[in-house]
Amino acid sequence: MPTLSSTSRRSFIKQTLAWSAAAAAAQPLAALAPRHDAAAAHALILGDWGYLDKLSTQGFGAGSDFAAQGQVARGMRHFAQTDNLVPDALFLLGDSWYGELPGGVGSPRWRAQFEELYPADAFPGPAYTMLGNHDYQYIPADVNKVEAELEYARTGRGPDGKPTRWTLPARWYTFDFPAKKPLMRCIVLDSNMPKPDGQVRHGVDFTLTPAQQAEQLAWFKQQLQRPRELPWLTVMAHHPVYSNGPHGDHPVLIRDWAPLLRDYKVDLYMAGHDHDLQVLQLEGEPTTHVLSGAGGADLYVLKRDGLDRGPYAQEVHGFSHLSVTPTSLQVRHLDADGRYLFGIGRDRAGAVRSLAS
Ligand SMILES: [Fe+2]
Repeated sequence: MPTLSSTSRRSFIKQTLAWSAAAAAAQPLAALAPRHDAAAAHALILGDWGYLDKLSTQGFGAGSDFAAQGQVARGMRHFAQTDNLVPDALFLLGDSWYGELPGGVGSPRWRAQFEELYPADAFPGPAYTMLGNHDYQYIPADVNKVEAELEYARTGRGPDGKPTRWTLPARWYTFDFPAKKPLMRCIVLDSNMPKPDGQVRHGVDFTLTPAQQAEQLAWFKQQLQRPRELPWLTVMAHHPVYSNGPHGDHPVLIRDWAPLLRDYKVDLYMAGHDHDLQVLQLEGEPTTHVLSGAGGADLYVLKRDGLDRGPYAQEVHGFSHLSVTPTSLQVRHLDADGRYLFGIGRDRAGAVRSLAS
């Protein structure tokens, strides 16, 4: 089992024991689908990926660099090739465009940092995306990146006129995964919340408006109240509800969303935002929380180093692999070279366990 990169042995043991105690309370999985299960549906997942190490004052081009993103993207392709895996979809957990998006929907970054880095021959399925805090920033000031991302999906075409896999029909939406013979209902939310006092400082806070926040929450409840026709239910958004990273727990999401995740026994909540990889299985919470925010942006130092919460957190570039069958849900974290770091599996009764590989 991998260790926290900057955690003492004592704290790691403490964390492991806490995890073991939580896992012992659950029923063991009767049978986990093997990693290469051809009958499973597969998605590769990454967050916080559209990064530029150097922002050129002339915009994207010379002087711009996204080396870490490129390394993770190559690792995804290597992982898929090694496993002879053609994922059914990509889940992109937000912060798609850090910094400038010169030209908006016509920016050259679309080709260089999306279409070509995650090529359609390796990843032919839809790329379900969502909005992060950096997507809300107006950079340059005359470019609304949210509108550009919605427009890019609306056109359905990439820079070369070929169909794009970029999928963002609205700020919040649902999809069934995989598209053919679906096994999982996915609810995508916009977690860019206004300040708790509801005040919006124009030009400073780039978030949903309070009215949009209320509209989305009502819609979210409606979605959860729908008859559950598929084996698995997942919610995803850019911001984590709980995190051992520097952003920590999110008070608004804990107030508004956590009770719903609990009441409707959502299987999986996926987020990015903290630039690391995490799995949180909290006592009393039926939902497994997976953080995958290591797709290219600078890594963060874990905040709760040492910890009482787990079972896993690591400051490392990488991505995640979701596989689902009618009876098993598995998520694995992989590093930037596609090497296995940690994995967790769930059965339909909500029993969880770590995976050996
Ligand atoms: Fe973020």
